[in-house]
Parts: sequence; C-alpha cells; structure tokens
Amino acid sequence: MEIIIQRDAEAASRLAAGIVARTVREKPHAVLGFATGQTPIGLYGELVRLHREERLDFERITAFNLDEFVGLKPAHPASYHSYMREHLFRHINIDPARINIPDGLSADIPAVCRDYEDRIHSAGGIDIQILGIGTDGHLGFNEPSSSLASRTRIKTLTARTRRDNAEAFGGEDKVPHHVITMGLGTIMACRMCLLLAFGPAKAHAIAQAVEGPIAAMVPASILQMHPRAVILLDEEAAAGLQRSAYYRWVYENKPGWQKI
Ligand code: F6R
Repeated sequence: MEIIIQRDAEAASRLAAGIVARTVREKPHAVLGFATGQTPIGLYGELVRLHREERLDFERITAFNLDEFVGLKPAHPASYHSYMREHLFRHINIDPARINIPDGLSADIPAVCRDYEDRIHSAGGIDIQILGIGTDGHLGFNEPSSSLASRTRIKTLTARTRRDNAEAFGGEDKVPHHVITMGLGTIMACRMCLLLAFGPAKAHAIAQAVEGPIAAMVPASILQMHPRAVILLDEEAAAGLQRSAYYRWVYENKPGWQKI
C-alpha cells in the first residue's frame, strides 16, 4: 500500500483527481470505478473543473459504480444514480450508454449481480477504483464479516452504516436495509485502488485497515493484499496511524519517476 498524507481533504482530492486525469489522458477508453458519499465530492468537483478548464475528455470512458440501495428509484434524491448525476455525470461529457450502476429495483437481484460482474469483465476490468471507507471499516458496502473473496451481491447494512447515511434520507428509519455492492473480490480485481478518507471519524477505521491484521471484520484491510492500493488521507484521518512519519518520509523522498 502507498499511504499519502496531505494537509487537508482539498489537497488530497486534487491529487486523486490528477491520478484519474492522467489515466484518462493516457487511456481514453479507461474503465473507472466510482464511489459515492461525502468523501469523493471534492475529487468529482476537481474532475469537473479539469473537464471545463483543461478539456479533460470523458467521452470514451466506461463507468462502474460500487453500489446502490435496493428498492430506490434512480430518480430518488438519495439514490446513487442521483448522486452520480448531480456530482459528476451531468457536468462532463460521459456517454450515458457507458454508465453502469447496479439496478436496485430489479425483481431478480442475483441476475443483476451476475450481469454486473459480466459487464465489468467484458469492459476489460476496472483501471482505477475510487473508494471511501465506512466508520466500521466497510469497503463498498461490504460490511464487517463480508467474505474477503466476495463478488457483486446483495448485502444488509449494519445499524451503524444506516445511522451514518441517515442525513441523506431524512432519518435513519428511511435508510434501506439492503444494497447491491461489488464484492471485495471484485474490488481486488481492479488494477488500481484509490481509497480516500478524510476527517477524525475515519481515523480508527484507517488505523485498523492499514496497520491492523487482514480480517473480514475490517473489510478495507483486504487492500493490504492489493498490488496497487493508494490510500490518500488528510491529517485527521491519518491521526491513528503508528507509522505516519515513515509514510510521509517515503512520499516526500520518492524519486520523481516513482511518484503517482
Ligand atoms: C459509497 C460506498 C461507501 C462509502 C463509505 C464512506 O459508494 O461504497 O463505502 O465510501 O460509506 O462514506 P462517506 O464518504 O460518506 O463517509
């Protein structure tokens, strides 16, 4: 894992956007994996700016989102379809036919999940998967106890995750219990994982995921096994790390050719 600690979320989001932008410029047909939530909003804002001001071209990229709530219409304001439209897709020149978000409304969820895996495979696999982390260590919506080899499937949210999502729904009781999420095995098959975490509420989960043992109880810890996982943190999210001085030294003293 490469652990990069930045001054604040804005600097980390800019760095993340630079990594995504370089991939898209080098590979116009890149396959990008997107996450939702509070964390990547700054990154998406920066991608929109790069599109508008520096003509970053998204026309040929393919998008796969990590997850979606079961039972929400795409037009529901708290759906991840709405989130992606509002924060990114309606501001850039992505081809709507190349946008993939799990269909949480289908009557045949196992078929939706199989089809999602097939579509990722047919697209040639995901080049960069953007990730956030739950306060309980979840990755995508793979909650603690998820199989570390899991593939896209239905999952049940923990009470804590439903609480963390209550604001978007106007109350905890309105948050769906079920989601469709890429599995940890699906995420591990991506060529690069870019996990962002900001703020003090993420410090414990980050410390466990980065420096604790690999465990199904901390799903994000599986990234320790990924050949190319970049963990981008602000100072607050990095506050629980034992070896932060080492990570900072490594990053600051990298030869130019090795910098991401
Ligand atoms: C979102 C997702 C989740 C979030 C995580 C953090 O698509 O899969 O894992 O990344 O719950 O959410 P925020 O960023 O709102 O703290």
